[in-house]
Amino acid sequence: MAATAEMPYFIKPSRPLSPDQKRVVYAEARQAILATLGDEADDQVKMVTMNCLLKTYIPYYYWVGFYLVRGEDKLVIGPYQGTLGCLYIKFGKGVCGTVAATGETRIVEDTHALVQGKEHIACDPNSRSEIVLPVRRADGTLMGVFDVDSTLEGSFDEVDQRELETLLKNVFG
Ligand code: SME
Repeated sequence: MAATAEMPYFIKPSRPLSPDQKRVVYAEARQAILATLGDEADDQVKMVTMNCLLKTYIPYYYWVGFYLVRGEDKLVIGPYQGTLGCLYIKFGKGVCGTVAATGETRIVEDTHALVQGKEHIACDPNSRSEIVLPVRRADGTLMGVFDVDSTLEGSFDEVDQRELETLLKNVFG
C-alpha cells in the first residue's frame, strides 16, 4: 500500500523552533535521555529511548529512527517512531545510504529538490527536510545512521547537527 500524503492520525505536523528554542529543548531532551539510560549498555534500549524522548521534546521531529549496518553495503531498518520506513537501504542510495558511505552528517533543506530514488528515498511524502548522522560505536566502527525528518522545509541546521553529534557520542561512543 503506497504511503498516502494524508497525515496519519497518530502523528502531528512539525512545528518550527528558533535556534535559541532549539537549544532549550535539546538540553531538556538530553537530560531526560541520559537520566533514563544511566549506565545502560544495550544498544536497542538506547535507540528506543532516544527516539521516544527526542520526539517528545522536539516539535519538528516527524520521523525519527535508526538504520543499522548489515553486511558490507546495506542498512536495515532499526528502532523508529513514525510512518512506515523503508526496510533496507544500500550504501550510497538516498540520504541515509550516502551518510553510511561517507561517514559525514547530511542536512537536507528540501527533500523534494533531490533526485528521488537516488539522492533521496521518500518513505513518506510528508517529509520535506531531513538530517542524517553517522552512529559510531566506542571503537569508532559504524553502527548505522540516525535519521530525522520534518514536514517543514529547512527545519534542520548547525544547532541540530552539533546537538545530535554530541548526544550520539554521549550515548553510543
Ligand atoms: N529519506 C531517507 C530514507 C528513510 S525514510 O525517510 C524513513 C533517505 O533518503 O535515505
